[in-house]
Amino acid sequence: MNKFLIAPSIIASDFTRLADEIAATESAGADWLHMDVMDGHFVPTITIGPLFVEACKRVTKLPLDVHLMISNPDQYLEVFAKACANNITVHVETCPNLLETIAKIKSLGCKAGVTLNPLTPASALDEVLPIVDLVLVMSVTPGYSGQVFMPEMIGKVEEIRNKLNALRSQAWLEVDGGITADTLPLMYKVGANVFVAGNAAFKHPQGVAGGVRALRESVA
Ligand code: DX5
Ligand code: ZN
Repeated sequence: MNKFLIAPSIIASDFTRLADEIAATESAGADWLHMDVMDGHFVPTITIGPLFVEACKRVTKLPLDVHLMISNPDQYLEVFAKACANNITVHVETCPNLLETIAKIKSLGCKAGVTLNPLTPASALDEVLPIVDLVLVMSVTPGYSGQVFMPEMIGKVEEIRNKLNALRSQAWLEVDGGITADTLPLMYKVGANVFVAGNAAFKHPQGVAGGVRALRESVA
């Protein structure tokens, strides 16, 4: 079996018990903590910002996987790097000069990720695929946790996996949106190796420990 990572999405956790939720995520054996930053402009929702990211860093050793769903991310890269983001992922739709943005993220000492909305074709990533550390494929329209997985995105993951393999890239191929114990194996089979989970992780009847376990065990 190929190695794969689980990245619970903190916006689906109970913020009144944030430190406990993070500790439970860590002891559940999660690999990264996914952080959905939304600005109410690029997406309709407003969620968390750099202060929140930095506070989480103080209570965990898990790598922080920061997904920027914001307009003009270039303006905020340094702020999120200072907030101790480990990975910073930007949307191709928000970056007029994607190559420069990726280079800037790396120069700040972070892993550089790129992502795309469901309606954006995989070819939009071609120029940066050789240099990114991570590609994130959205399997819902970004904006909310708890949406239904779009099976049309399976083909997109397969297409990007083939391109990464052709480049001999070691970049992580991450998927985000509607990932459950049922949909994870579909994406794993076509080459995804990092799985973001909001509801499936934090809203599991046995809490995040049960959620992470179910996701981990979904691939035989
Ligand atoms: C969607 C976010 C996701 C979301 C995932 O805009 O990027 O990370 O929190 O939540 P689920 O797994 O519940 O779809
Ligand atoms: Zn996300």
